[in-house]
Amino acid sequence: MLYMLYPLSFALLGLSFLLLRWLKFESLPTTVLTGLMGQVGRSRRFTLSTPDFVNEGYRKYSKGFARPFVLPTTWMRGGAVMVLPPSLVPLLTRPDKMSACEWRNIYGLVENIQLPYVVLDPNVYLNVLQFEPVRRKMQSRDMGHLAPITAEEIDEAFRGIWGTQTEWKTINGWEAALGNIAQLRHLALMALRAKYFQSRFVKEGTRAGGGGADPSMGSRQGRWSERAPSQLDARRIALRFVSLLIPLIFAICYVFAHCVFDILGSPARLDHKTGLASSEAINELFRVDSALRESMRMSGVFVTNLFRDVTTGELDIGNGIRVGPGIRTTFPTQNIHLDPDNYENPQEYDALRFSRPFEDAKGHVEERELVTTTTPTFLPFSYGRNACPGRWFAAQVIKQALAYIVQNYNVKLVREAVKRMALANAMVPPVNTQIKIQQKR
Ligand code: HEM
Repeated sequence: MLYMLYPLSFALLGLSFLLLRWLKFESLPTTVLTGLMGQVGRSRRFTLSTPDFVNEGYRKYSKGFARPFVLPTTWMRGGAVMVLPPSLVPLLTRPDKMSACEWRNIYGLVENIQLPYVVLDPNVYLNVLQFEPVRRKMQSRDMGHLAPITAEEIDEAFRGIWGTQTEWKTINGWEAALGNIAQLRHLALMALRAKYFQSRFVKEGTRAGGGGADPSMGSRQGRWSERAPSQLDARRIALRFVSLLIPLIFAICYVFAHCVFDILGSPARLDHKTGLASSEAINELFRVDSALRESMRMSGVFVTNLFRDVTTGELDIGNGIRVGPGIRTTFPTQNIHLDPDNYENPQEYDALRFSRPFEDAKGHVEERELVTTTTPTFLPFSYGRNACPGRWFAAQVIKQALAYIVQNYNVKLVREAVKRMALANAMVPPVNTQIKIQQKR
């Protein structure tokens, strides 16, 4: 299914190319020439050079003056976004709706992952009922019971895709990561489906009061069928699964593949000998956790992220600037992660950056930053009210898979990873990276 996204991405970019409109943010600096510069040239440049433009804006406006700048884009409706300075990250902790102003993340979120071009039903991609079970049922405390099942699935996936041969073999690292992660999706769907959307829901939802094995499910079905019978449409339920699968498979695979390549290119050695089938065992994986957090810091999926659309009222962002309805804001997340004021030697992948201070018990354990800990300078899972509720599940699975590799395989990069490239706001995944693998004897 992921492969469907590439042609769709190009179709979308082509469409944007034709439809790009120049949104006027009067009095704010932009990172390119304004005026009548050709739409065509602008679209082409932004398709390939978004990181350069954001770097320039970050240096000139975010850092120097704590001011926003305007980034013309080819990927957003309206054609431009307002990039807020890092000093405004704490705004993400405010409630979406306040008396002075409402802002919402959903429009930018679904557009950034191109959901409207994959799932055509706005009642699915804007009315995101499918987020609820993730928000309510996938907090860290709920994830431990999934560990034995994911451990088993990981073992099965690796044996099938990486194989059990003791001779070296060369494989495409990205495709192998995708295959391994894709097998795990059934599990997450099982977890979600069990709560809300299982097939019984459709069959029994129309019966008075439901009557399934789970009484709370039955009454919920009854309520839903009274209030919104259209939500019991099987096609719509299937589309809700699809719209969860996209972040699930793509994001986990992307992060996992990058982390494998980053670790292979680094001198740090991760050792893991205990089991992977309990949350206690996974919680002990501090070095693996650090290697993953460091990889996510360096190898983000997007150049800018954490979109918010002002929908009513005005948002006061300081310096006398008030942002009104219709404006979409975002943050320069990649620059924040690579800023030397935030991280020492930020361009260097240091797998043990976050675990080292605690190795010799000098660090206070309660200050330990795990991959799921969001801070104003670590934003891959966002920050504040809408921070990713799937992150404990994602982190648990990726750490299990990384530790599984450490335990079971010798792995080498065939050649050094190539320079990362951007396509519009997204960083192109390392689709051509070859690795050599051999099962440990
Ligand atoms: C490594 C993998 C993942 C990454 C990097 C990631 C990252 C993100 C980011 C950046 C957001 C945007 C938050 C915002 O607008 O401020 C988000 C939202 C969300 N993610 Fe994830 N995510 C990942 C995996 C998952 C998984 C596995 C699930 C579900 C099982 C999930 C479910 C969600 C949901 C439901 C939201 C919307 C939250 C809201 O609007 O309140 N994510 N994620």
